Amino acid sequence: MNNSVERLVIASNRLPFIFKKSGNNWKIEAGSGGLVTALAPVLKDRGGLWVGWPGTFELSSISGLLKTASKKAGYTLKSVQITEEEIQQYYLGFSNEVIWPLFHDLQSYCNFDPDYWTFYKSINKRFALILKKATKPKDFIWIHDYHLMCVAQSLREINIKNKLAFYLHIPFPPLDIFSKLPWRTEILFSLLNYDLIGFQSIRDRNNFIQCLKTFIKGLKLKGKGHVINAIINDRIVKIGSFPISIDYKEFSSLAKSKAVADQAWFIHEDIPNNKIILGIDRLDYTKGITYRLRAFQKLLSTHPELHRKLTLIQVLVPSRRNIPMYQELKLEIEQLVSEINGQYTRSGWVPIHYIYRSLSRKELLAYYRTAEIALITPLKDGMNLIAKEYCASNIEKTGSVILSEFAGAAAQMGENVLLVNPYNIDEVAGAIYTAITMDLKTRKNRMIKLQKSIQKYDIYWWLNSFLNAAMAVKLDKFPKLEKIKSTNKLNKNN
Ligand code: F6P
Repeated sequence: MNNSVERLVIASNRLPFIFKKSGNNWKIEAGSGGLVTALAPVLKDRGGLWVGWPGTFELSSISGLLKTASKKAGYTLKSVQITEEEIQQYYLGFSNEVIWPLFHDLQSYCNFDPDYWTFYKSINKRFALILKKATKPKDFIWIHDYHLMCVAQSLREINIKNKLAFYLHIPFPPLDIFSKLPWRTEILFSLLNYDLIGFQSIRDRNNFIQCLKTFIKGLKLKGKGHVINAIINDRIVKIGSFPISIDYKEFSSLAKSKAVADQAWFIHEDIPNNKIILGIDRLDYTKGITYRLRAFQKLLSTHPELHRKLTLIQVLVPSRRNIPMYQELKLEIEQLVSEINGQYTRSGWVPIHYIYRSLSRKELLAYYRTAEIALITPLKDGMNLIAKEYCASNIEKTGSVILSEFAGAAAQMGENVLLVNPYNIDEVAGAIYTAITMDLKTRKNRMIKLQKSIQKYDIYWWLNSFLNAAMAVKLDKFPKLEKIKSTNKLNKNN
């Protein structure tokens, strides 16, 4: 390990723990997702720090729990206090009514309220002040996602000289869409205060570079490959593409467990002789759910011979329920599901099973394991880890993936999935038909290739390549990951 680096410090909008109130008591649950899985072991071994919002306004009630969670986790958790009004303006407003739709190419969904921007800058500044207080000069500070694009600038303004890196988990839009942002130059200048800026794909990285070339005068670009250098005022900013992934080993070994196998069997047992098409998404307008439902409806209308032979299981995980557009979308989806079910349901067969809740890990893996087809058709997506999780959990290696060409995952998985334009209802209906009728050998060949590549480019590979670009050191110096890597090697050789 480079001795000049003391600790890894992570900042993200949310802390990696969820604080929940049930009655008068507070409960704490570990957060899930790639970021937590990848970074928690590293922080534990390096004595790191994670700064974020705990998801509640009652900070004093959770301070004890926060300490317990820190102790259990093995690294320090530092909460950022944000009021209800600030959440309204910075998180629901600027982050989710401006950046989220714009960066997913849905500019007409944006609400460019100038007050949102004021709050956004002020919360980013608050993160910076907390980071200044809690960090040491040799700490490596890694900021995550679109909620916190301006933290580096605030840190530089208060004279922080640490190495600063940023990773964008969502897409970066093309020039003509980004140009609509009233604060486009400010955001670009802010981002240039980081030493390394990481994107999910070359597509996003190139869009960003195009925007820099247009709006930042005097910027020079050097190098090629997945990381290139931007030179501005004699400073070098590295800009790279680092596709995020999953803990492949964890998913595949859990999916093999008896508990998951049993549950998978029960799911299919309830709908015998039916092929299961699975859609799992956060309830979000970027996921293309209404187009997907229309495509399924089209398939049923053009292929009556498939009636009673296939079931679409659509799981929607509740999300951002305070934003009106999300509430309206829920109603629209539910109306469409009832319309299709009303039209096609026959005794013993309901074409769409609609689930609106979070699934337990076991349930999720069971659905992945048992579904014949994963239908993943976002209108735009940074990566889409569902696509990778489905493959890792496909123990029988017989499943097929239908994937939107606008998901970041398409760049890595495109050759072995059925790529579709999610806006093209006929094409998606056709891809479902192709998947249903695809022969076993082709399906197996494709799934084996997908699994191999996801296993190789897993979450540890992502972490390794990002930190290597940021600090020019190999991650295998981190003890825990060293162990994980050698276990991976052992498994491969067996
Ligand atoms: O995909 C971006 C992201 O911020 C993820 O990191 C997160 O899991 C998801 O969107 C939902 O985020 P939130 O509920 O915090 O808005």
